[in-house]
Amino acid sequence: MVHKILDLYPKLTYHSEDKLELSNFTAAAIPVLPGEKIELSKNKFLTIISNFTKLDLSIELNNWPEFTAKPGEIIEVPISVGSLTRIYLVGMGGESDDDLRKASTALGRKVKGTNCVLLSALATEKEKVITQGVAFILSNYQYSLKSEQKEKKPTFVVYGEFKDEVEYAEILASAVWQARNLIHTPSNIKNPEWLAKQANAMVSAAKNSDLSITVKSGRALKEFGGLLAVGNSSPNPGPRLIEVNYAPKGSSNWPHVVLVGKGITFDTGGVSLKRPYESMIGMKSDMAGAAAVLCATVAMSKVKPKVKVTALLMAAENALSGTSQRPSDVIKHFGGTTVEVLNTDAEGRLVLADGLAYADLELEPDYLVDVATLTGAATLGLGRQYAAMYTRDKSVAKKLYEVGGKVGEKVWHMPLVDDYSVALTSDVADFNHLADKFGFSAGSVTAALFLEKFVGDRNWVHLDIAGTGRSEVDAGENVKGGTGFGVRLLIEWLGSF
Ligand code: BES
Ligand code: MN
Ligand code: ZN
Repeated sequence: MVHKILDLYPKLTYHSEDKLELSNFTAAAIPVLPGEKIELSKNKFLTIISNFTKLDLSIELNNWPEFTAKPGEIIEVPISVGSLTRIYLVGMGGESDDDLRKASTALGRKVKGTNCVLLSALATEKEKVITQGVAFILSNYQYSLKSEQKEKKPTFVVYGEFKDEVEYAEILASAVWQARNLIHTPSNIKNPEWLAKQANAMVSAAKNSDLSITVKSGRALKEFGGLLAVGNSSPNPGPRLIEVNYAPKGSSNWPHVVLVGKGITFDTGGVSLKRPYESMIGMKSDMAGAAAVLCATVAMSKVKPKVKVTALLMAAENALSGTSQRPSDVIKHFGGTTVEVLNTDAEGRLVLADGLAYADLELEPDYLVDVATLTGAATLGLGRQYAAMYTRDKSVAKKLYEVGGKVGEKVWHMPLVDDYSVALTSDVADFNHLADKFGFSAGSVTAALFLEKFVGDRNWVHLDIAGTGRSEVDAGENVKGGTGFGVRLLIEWLGSF
């Protein structure tokens, strides 16, 4: 079955202040800052718009006394001057990046699914122009397999000479967009083999010798006991280990970052079937971690930082079948650690353990980072705005916290509570993977403690994105479903090496 995905990816460009021809646009957006008296800031852009439209926009603003310029509050002034049909007066709230994202996505959503050519002056500083551009694009995301589709999409034109910023915004936004397409794809289409094909296609499309890919399957996975135990529940086509490398010429002495992504293409829970059954519906997005590390790594060929990056996508389906693993099975991970499986729904840590051990034992990473929709407990603790970050390295924690705030993918540093590690003991194996002995409850913490057993002495960061990886609402930068969380965080962090 061949599906056609609706592609609403909008155009983003810029226009320098000189030779501005307003007749080329259908709409223009002007920022409004809150304050005691709400006023339009007098600048060149306002003068140009006022001269062209012969409108006094302050009068328009005064017509709306209840307008407080909260971020995302918009007054739409309909006009008809040449091709220009409306002026948007956009509330900007404060100076924060979050407010700018709110304002830009509210505006982006106004023109979603239209052919509007929008000239925007919401941002004038370089970093803000990037934030604005990404927000415009992401607010237009849609995943649809409807048989009748209208492919109308807007053009966003940023006011000012911002070539590099528009280019970088494109790198971030298109990588998130690709991740979302992978995550939103239903699991009757998406299996581990499909994911490998998509990764292959993305690497080929980049046409850049800095990138390479290898895919392990079948016999080549015989030492990866966790990936096999989970993935053999769906033996046709079975699990895959997809390895994507960004290693430019001369990179052998650069720092090496290995990213490990949870790539469960559907999580039924296995024999420990998920209940209530509705909680399964969102589980096509259980490969969001793999999507994030893939799309960030491929984007490296455009960002070109001085760091080697290896992405390991641990791809498997957690199905309920005659070849599913059983609660009480003992498996052997890469490197030899044995683990007692007590609940087949805690499958993510099993596939990650192999990836982490393989990275530690074979790849000599300077940083080892895993990204996974791992535990419902992470969502209980932090909700959907912050990912749970576990690491013993305070300086990388601080860095990721700062980067996350900047790009709008926030992380919160959580404690690896050593007192809870007795939860991992087992009578028959090195560890039990459920990590619930003695009832400490901290499910996201104990899952992290389990993963830590496989990272050796590496500088390791675990990002539990179970909450942030999916959105429950169609609002702001997100639609309901996969968000692509982690893509921007990783690109920005890796770009800083
Ligand atoms: N994929 C789920 C975690 C999850 C839950 C992600 C909800 C997104 C939304 C994971 O494989 C899982 O089932 N975790 C269990 C672990 C438990 C059995 C220890 C959980 O969180 O309930
Ligand atoms: Mn599960
Ligand atoms: Zn899962």
